Amino acid sequence: MGSPLPLDPTKMKKSNLLLVVLVLALGLVILSYQLNKEPVVDEKIVNGPTVDEPVVDRPGEATYPKVDFMYGFEFPGDWSAVPVTEFTAFYPATASWQWLKSDHPGSGGLNAGMGCNNCHTGQEEKLGNSLVSGNNKFGLEPDPIEGKEGYKNVKAQAAYDDKKFYLRVEWESERPGISHEYWRYNGEKWERWSSNKPGVLKAGKMPSYEDRFAVILDDKNVPAYDGANIGFEQVGCWQTCHNPMRNMPGEVSKDNAQAGIGKEDVRKYLLVTRTDYTGTDGNWADLKSKEDLDQLLADGKFLDLWMFRAARSGPIGYASDDWVFDYRDADIGGKNPFTTPEQPEFMFNEELLGFRAIPEDKFESKLLEAIMVKEETSVGFGPTVVPMDKNAEFKEGDIVMRRILQEPTENRKDIRAYSIWENGRWTVTFVRDLDTGNANDKALVEGNKYNIGFGVFDDHTTTRRHYVTLPMTIGIGVDADLKAVKI
Ligand code: HEC
Repeated sequence: MGSPLPLDPTKMKKSNLLLVVLVLALGLVILSYQLNKEPVVDEKIVNGPTVDEPVVDRPGEATYPKVDFMYGFEFPGDWSAVPVTEFTAFYPATASWQWLKSDHPGSGGLNAGMGCNNCHTGQEEKLGNSLVSGNNKFGLEPDPIEGKEGYKNVKAQAAYDDKKFYLRVEWESERPGISHEYWRYNGEKWERWSSNKPGVLKAGKMPSYEDRFAVILDDKNVPAYDGANIGFEQVGCWQTCHNPMRNMPGEVSKDNAQAGIGKEDVRKYLLVTRTDYTGTDGNWADLKSKEDLDQLLADGKFLDLWMFRAARSGPIGYASDDWVFDYRDADIGGKNPFTTPEQPEFMFNEELLGFRAIPEDKFESKLLEAIMVKEETSVGFGPTVVPMDKNAEFKEGDIVMRRILQEPTENRKDIRAYSIWENGRWTVTFVRDLDTGNANDKALVEGNKYNIGFGVFDDHTTTRRHYVTLPMTIGIGVDADLKAVKI
């Protein structure tokens, strides 16, 4: 005698049947409520409670496949015939311009017109190892990151032809940092979850922040401040680094930045854009008049900044096209290669990829699939997303990325970057017109020498947690620290 299904109505008493119908109806009501529920966004950024140990830190435990964002790019010359120059970038901790000019034992030298290289050439490893440690003798690292390396070696090659300039750089990065901030569904709503170290670990959230390679280029030896006898040639990127910037000792609050300079924060800037340069607060709010700034710009007193962003530009074959003047910003005019939405606007295209979100415990193994591109781009990659469906079901721990990639436009599309990460090593080739014709870019001219600095970001870090080179030079067909050869 087979066991009857509990729901077989022919075998049930009427009262039992009524109960089953009621339970089913209730179930349907709950289900339809769940399906119609709108994901609610928690806009709080990572400032949670401080914990001693990271709750999760899966990065580093996985092994990663090759990442290939070359898109068929072929260098028109032969890289094996182009000389390789090695540079060492080191961790600067909080050594700001204001520190260098005050408590730094070399401040007298700087006042006398000397440059960093007069005293520190060849010391990069030593400097970096000292600065990355919580025991730095000048107290320059108040919040060390465990296991962080003090320096990073960079191999660089440069070349040019009649129209274009090519820079190829190689450095080690344990994990391909091709992921950036994301939203996580907590079972009820979407939350901003991932961000950069070390803050994100203290908040008990997941580190996820892109690897980057930045190039700062100077053609006018922009003075370190009004009337200075030193400029980018002597002091390099340090002339852009000040106490009031994000994650620096004198960090300015959002409200104050808004009131003072009409921005949400203080980023790299040049003291020549300020009316004074002597304040320990970096004179961040003392902006010169619009006429004075326009004049400086017309005189070329700004720095060009190129940035390969492994999550926000590399996957579609670009570097972001930025500049440093009164603020660090994208070139004026056009769209960035990425967006910065305040809501999860997109989910993955399930028809194309087989998923609409990535479960967090699969995040590392699905890194390469976790790239959200809004539209078809010039390299043929995308779209990979569809608009967020408010009725779609998500599970706790589901992830969608925050930054959505898009084809950059106008003045922000000048720099292509083709990249490969393999066996713990990035190789990135920047390609740009020698002269873009854009007022926020520096033109490169055969026979000239330029000042240049590199910055390398890895290990889910940002702002000051990068590696920086001492000032160096690049020659377009002429001798320099890095010589670009004609192909
Ligand atoms: C006139 C020589 C001189 C010049 C120029 C100079 N420095 Fe220094 N710097 C020193 C000396 C000396 C020390 C102390 C070294 C020590 O105690 O180990 C020092 C220390 C430092 C430290 C701290 C190192 C540590 O171990 O914590 C940093 C960072 C630094 N210098 C960066 C720079 C930068 C960047 C420049 C250029 C903008 C520069 N210095 C220019 C002489 C100089």
